[in-house]
Amino acid sequence: MSKITVIGAGNVGATAAQRAAEKELAEQVVLVDILEGIPQGKALDMWETAPIELYDSRVIGANSYEETAGSDVIIMTAGLARKPGMSRDDLLKKNTEIVHNCISAAAKQSPNAVIIVVSNPLDAMTYVALKASGFPTERVFGMAGVLDTARYRSFIAEALNVSVRDVAALVLGGHGDTMVPLPRYTMVGGIPLPQLMPAEQIEAIVDRTRKGGAEIVGLLKTGSAYYAPSAAAVEMAASVMRNQKRVLPCAAWLTGEYGLKDLYMGVPLKIGKGGAEQVLELELNAEEQKLFDGSVAAVRKNIGEVEAILNAM
Ligand code: NAI
Ligand code: 2OP
Repeated sequence: MSKITVIGAGNVGATAAQRAAEKELAEQVVLVDILEGIPQGKALDMWETAPIELYDSRVIGANSYEETAGSDVIIMTAGLARKPGMSRDDLLKKNTEIVHNCISAAAKQSPNAVIIVVSNPLDAMTYVALKASGFPTERVFGMAGVLDTARYRSFIAEALNVSVRDVAALVLGGHGDTMVPLPRYTMVGGIPLPQLMPAEQIEAIVDRTRKGGAEIVGLLKTGSAYYAPSAAAVEMAASVMRNQKRVLPCAAWLTGEYGLKDLYMGVPLKIGKGGAEQVLELELNAEEQKLFDGSVAAVRKNIGEVEAILNAM
């Protein structure tokens, strides 16, 4: 039986489970959370939606990992948001523990799964999932670039009053302030963006994209974005389940590409049944390379910090 497990039945996880079921990406979708009743209740509600939305993916909820056995894909969304009085280091430690514990348990039940990490800080948590699973690097990668690129594309489509379908773009680098949008590689109906929009307007859109997560938090106040993040994770999961060979910007493990190795970095990745099939490389000019280098430094720092936490565990 084909199966997708979503760990974390909060905003991102529950919405991802719903999207995966509605697309019938697997015969079974298992939603796991440590809160008793929440994954079961949300899963039952989603299953009761099936006769209306017409899907046969069976959604079930669980508080342990036996039910997840034999999953093809695991989408990892569990984690804490920063609370008042909690330092960034406290959050990093707590989420490292959560991701480590969840992924260790899930990987034992599904030794052949592909893991897609969503929990933040994304690049570092993807590294924790790699270590905790013991999986080969091609079966562990992270979601950030698809979300960041979708935000960027939506802002461009709105500014030019064109369909989002005709805006193709790519955002490289780590998730957050150091992401690297690439206007030179952004095409609107095949036309490079700089031929359609003045440089200042592009810069304003790039800036808004970098702060895209914070913009939503500022509006919601009690949580962060989840409609676009869940859609992004499910787009990646679909490429695995349907062996689509999509080329999507993801946090992928580098082994010499872009002159880098031993870190996760947001780069174009071909995704198929076995997970990451190929990192695609592109030429960067001096300015783009400088931004990319800044992003690499920030991601290396985060990964160094979680390495120390993992060693002390
Ligand atoms: P949320 O707070 O709505 O849900 C988190 C869920 O994790 C809760 O239901 C909680 O009970 C569960 N959880 C905590 N510890 C657990 C454990 N040990 N085992 C199982 N479940 C556990 O948060 P939301 O909005 O769903 O976000 C989830 C994560 O995704 C956060 O870390 C957030 O920052 C991150 N995120 C990352 C994005 C990206 O681009 N990579 C985009 C959006 C969110
Ligand atoms: C976002 O970009 C919080 O990482 C999350 O919305």
